[in-house]
Amino acid sequence: MDLFNLEGKVAVITGSGKGIGKAIALGLADAGADVVVVARTQSDIDQTVLEIEQKGRKAIGISTDVKKKEEIERMVEQTLHTFGKIDILINNAGMNIRTPALEVSEEEWELIIQTNMKSVFLASQAVGKHMVEQKHGSIINISSVAGHVALRTGVAYAATKAGIIQMTKTLALEWGKYNVRVNAIAPWYFKTPLTEKLLTNKEYYDEVISRTPLRRVGDVKELVGPAVFLASDASSYVTGHTIFVDGGMSIYGF
Ligand SMILES: NC(=O)c1ccc[n+]([C@@H]2O[C@H](COP(=O)([O-])OP(=O)(O)OC[C@H]3O[C@@H](n4cnc5c(N)ncnc54)[C@H](OP(=O)(O)O)[C@@H]3O)[C@@H](O)[C@H]2O)c1
Repeated sequence: MDLFNLEGKVAVITGSGKGIGKAIALGLADAGADVVVVARTQSDIDQTVLEIEQKGRKAIGISTDVKKKEEIERMVEQTLHTFGKIDILINNAGMNIRTPALEVSEEEWELIIQTNMKSVFLASQAVGKHMVEQKHGSIINISSVAGHVALRTGVAYAATKAGIIQMTKTLALEWGKYNVRVNAIAPWYFKTPLTEKLLTNKEYYDEVISRTPLRRVGDVKELVGPAVFLASDASSYVTGHTIFVDGGMSIYGF
């Protein structure tokens, strides 16, 4: 369907070397987009670029630490130099350390806040400036159900993911008049390098499943549909919202 067609669009996707970001990068390429692959590990970046090129789309990889403003600005400049525009930004890069609140060090707090939340603001600001000028754009922030309900993911992680939901609303409010839309996706458990170890713990896995109406964890490919929807004209009147891709987990009341 033309509404979902991303041909001629340029998408910057942070954390697209593996896991959810890579799946979304490949999915957007399938929908027609050219992709800028952003992460730090060069071998992962190269592999994602190769797989996108094999789909007949253009891709470049730019090694970037999203915690650093100057690196984000350099990445945006390089992207504009190569492609001349950015239509879609997906702020996906993230990490977690699950430490009980009483034991979280200041360094750990800073690392999680900078990686998961400050990065979303810095990239949105750098790319948003360009989108506001060109008077169109779609920004998609990857939050988590941990930003909405209380989970045992750790306090810093939860704070960043809740912060992302509110940042999404505020940026949507400020930039709506420039036809720049800002939305978020909040996933529940998906098997990726981030969660693999946790989900191999049978007791934990069974508890996760017991709280998930669809009775399974997600496959990263199941995030492609929501991402293409929010990136494309199919969602042209949707902004400031968070789509929960969670097998129904966040509606579970008991
Ligand atoms: N998996 C889940 O169940 C789940 C659930 C809810 C939300 N999420 C969120 O979804 C996003 C992706 O998670 P995932 O499971 O796919 O994680 P993942 O498999 O660990 O992948 C994370 C990606 O982010 C990149 N990254 C991390 N820190 C970075 C930094 N400072 N600068 C640039 N890139 C960085 C990593 O590459 P480098 O290390 O090479 O930089 C990697 O490509 C995260 O925001 C996570 O919080 C995941």
